[in-house]
Amino acid sequence: MVFKFIIALVVITRYSSANLNHINVYARNYIGEQNYRTFFSANLKNLNEFSSLTAFNTRIEILQKDAVTNLPNLKELNLGGVRLQSLQEGCFNNLSSLKYLYLPNNKLKLIPARIFNNLTIRMLTLKGNYIQKIGTGAFSDMPSLEKLDLSENRLQNLDPNWFNNTSNLIALNVSANQLVKIEDGAFRNVKSLVNVDLSSNRIKSLNQNCFAGLTKLKLLNLNNNLIEVIEDGTFKDQNGLRALQLFGNRLECVSEDVLSSLRCGSSTFLIMNPIAQECRRRLDRFKKEEPRIIIFY
Ligand SMILES: *[C@@H]1O[C@H](CO)[C@@H](O)[C@H](O)[C@H]1NC(C)=O
Ligand SMILES: *[C@@H]1O[C@H](CO)[C@@H](O)[C@H](O)[C@H]1NC(C)=O
Ligand SMILES: *[C@@H]1O[C@H](CO)[C@@H](O)[C@H](O)[C@H]1NC(C)=O
Ligand SMILES: *[C@@H]1O[C@H](CO)[C@@H](O)[C@H](O)[C@H]1NC(C)=O
Ligand SMILES: *[C@@H]1O[C@H](CO)[C@@H](O)[C@H](O)[C@H]1NC(C)=O
Repeated sequence: MVFKFIIALVVITRYSSANLNHINVYARNYIGEQNYRTFFSANLKNLNEFSSLTAFNTRIEILQKDAVTNLPNLKELNLGGVRLQSLQEGCFNNLSSLKYLYLPNNKLKLIPARIFNNLTIRMLTLKGNYIQKIGTGAFSDMPSLEKLDLSENRLQNLDPNWFNNTSNLIALNVSANQLVKIEDGAFRNVKSLVNVDLSSNRIKSLNQNCFAGLTKLKLLNLNNNLIEVIEDGTFKDQNGLRALQLFGNRLECVSEDVLSSLRCGSSTFLIMNPIAQECRRRLDRFKKEEPRIIIFY
């Protein structure tokens, strides 16, 4: 005997008779597998006058096509920690006002091709999933996207084809993944980036074209990787670099070329690297010539 039974409690906060702004959906499911998967779409139709929605204490394993419909005013959707495993094509249809989409701490392994296309969101977080693969054009045609958080996943590479017409992306976080290298031109379709966090990966070397085209970059975090070599010319396009964070790597030295690309920047951190004695002297000299640049080693 299987009980098919749903209790859904919709708690409305910040309610005023004229304007309903925020809604939290708490759900408990005492039902078989199939039913709670469709729960989300079944219960949120026709609530069209609010701007923020957070689901918690529930399970939404599959986000189905047209899952969140008839919410033309929804600005923020938070589906964090709901054990989401897959995103079906069309699951973000009809969210024309959405600006913030949070999907952290779920179980997503795959981000399907083109899934977020045409959403006019500014911020997307996919932090803390199991993402190994991102389909071509997943983040294409998103000219409003400014911040993308892919940290704490299982990505092994960065593919320029994830992006096309994503012309305002400012911050990209791929910290705590499994990157071993940055391919040449990895960022060629996101030249607007200012802040890139690649810390806590397994990157072994930086090749001269890996940051090609990133002329607006100001903050680059490469802490806690396995970097042994930085090729000459690696930072040739980064004239405005302010902070280059490299602590916790395996560098024995950095070349004059790399140092000179930092001249226009204000600070750099080369800390906790096994910098060789001979190199130390060179760095001492550089510090005297360029007192504005802060180097720790
Ligand atoms: C949702 O969007 C799809 C495709 O974008 C459209 O065909 C459908 O009519 C829309 N549904 C509603 C309820 O607006
Ligand atoms: C996004 O918009 C473009 C241009 O309007 C359209 O050609 C494309 O099919 C849309 N993509 C999706 C996935 O809806
Ligand atoms: C980029 O996206 C915008 C909005 O979706 C669209 O109007 C524009 O045509 C797209 N540009 C290209 C080159 O696809
Ligand atoms: C990017 O989009 C434009 C316009 O839609 C298209 O011509 C171009 O081939 C696309 N580039 C990639 C790498 O997908
Ligand atoms: C990137 O993500 C990590 C892990 O989630 C976080 O600790 C870090 O602060 C983020 N970096 C930036 C620049 O926000």
